[in-house]
Amino acid sequence: MNDLIEKTHQAFFDYFAEKPSFLVRSPGRVNLLGEHTDYNGLPVLPMAIDHSIVIAGCARNDNQFHVVAHDFNDENVTFKLGVSIPKHPQGHWVNYVKAGIKGLLDKMERKDVRACKGCDLYMMGDIPYGSGLSSSSALVVASALCFLQANYIPFHRSPLAVWMAEAEYYVGTRGGGMDQATCLLGESDHLLKLDFFPLRATQIPWDPNYSVVICDSGVRAQKSENALQAYNFRSAECRLGKLLIDSFLKRSGQSFSWERLGDLLQKPHNYTYSDLDELARRSLKEVYSFDELISELGDKKAAVKILKDCSIGPASTYSKLEFSCGKRFRHIISDGWRVEQSRESLMNQDMKKFGECMLKGHQSARDDFAISCKELNDLVESAMESGSLGSRLTGAGFGGCTINLVPKKKVNNFVKKMESTYYRDRAASQDPRILITQPSNGAEILICSQFD
Ligand code: GLA
Repeated sequence: MNDLIEKTHQAFFDYFAEKPSFLVRSPGRVNLLGEHTDYNGLPVLPMAIDHSIVIAGCARNDNQFHVVAHDFNDENVTFKLGVSIPKHPQGHWVNYVKAGIKGLLDKMERKDVRACKGCDLYMMGDIPYGSGLSSSSALVVASALCFLQANYIPFHRSPLAVWMAEAEYYVGTRGGGMDQATCLLGESDHLLKLDFFPLRATQIPWDPNYSVVICDSGVRAQKSENALQAYNFRSAECRLGKLLIDSFLKRSGQSFSWERLGDLLQKPHNYTYSDLDELARRSLKEVYSFDELISELGDKKAAVKILKDCSIGPASTYSKLEFSCGKRFRHIISDGWRVEQSRESLMNQDMKKFGECMLKGHQSARDDFAISCKELNDLVESAMESGSLGSRLTGAGFGGCTINLVPKKKVNNFVKKMESTYYRDRAASQDPRILITQPSNGAEILICSQFD
């Protein structure tokens, strides 16, 4: 048992005065290449990290959940299973627990929901919160696994990952599915190449001579606050871009049905990345005002529907907004392509090229997708001067962490240099600022009787 698992086991016993019957470990993730590509149907290249949320649990004889969060001063919350599970105020940690469970209940028949058992749960984690390492999806997945274990419901990892991505809509995130899939499908010593719609996972061996070093910018990117709005706005720009391409295709007499950019790479369209790039260049302008958007689309309703779906509002602000569809598509297409190229570099053990792809990915996320910030850019610059082969922001952006590709034997030196440059004048925060990590295993359920 690792330290965190042991501590959670003990804490459950101290709190509930009985031993837990199971433990769930659910890891955070970093993404090496392919940012904001997932919800556009293009690939990503993430890995699970060796920092996790652990929940110790025991099934109850009723349908209540009693959940205690060590990292929130042992706050405890009780709720009942039901067809509807009311939310706590936005941003509360228990909403992620409820999201995972509600996501599963939504897939069940009503009569089965009534018969399900609740749990006593005690949770603890070592994924820094709000730092873009996906602590929230780890909690969603962990909670779902507790529910499945307590009710002896068998599951398959890939469909569960897709359900959990949908389940997060409960907390308002219209993510693309990368985080939940990585949490469930990660394997030690491998990156995951994930393709979406439908979800497909390929394990890519990682060169053990290299570490992935995570550097925290200190800028918090809470999924529940401004970052959520900014994320949803990017998603809206992408969906509007799709409509603009449709109307371009219609005008040029080539109308056909597709939903996301990634569909065009698949049968029957069989586009290449350079076909996608050409299509986007021909059909999209860099930036649109709302009026330009409407006049080009000739369909105000469809545009308003997308904005509403993505929780952009109120409608009175639409005329002041700008939609950078051309730039956004340039990033998505080039980053999807970088996933393919970097996968090839890994297979050829060309880590220098892999690092170059990472850096280009950062530049594109910064300039075309506009999800970086000064601190992240400074971190990347310091990292490149401190011996990293590649550096970029990871995850949704707008704060959080960078990831850095560093040869193992140079890691100590890299850390020292980062401490004396980027971190020199910054107050030490409680969280570790630099985490040295390796690709790790996905979520697991441990049955306590097996190791008592
Ligand atoms: C968040 C989302 C993911 C993905 C990334 C950006 O982590 O949950 O689905 O879109 O942002 O790549």
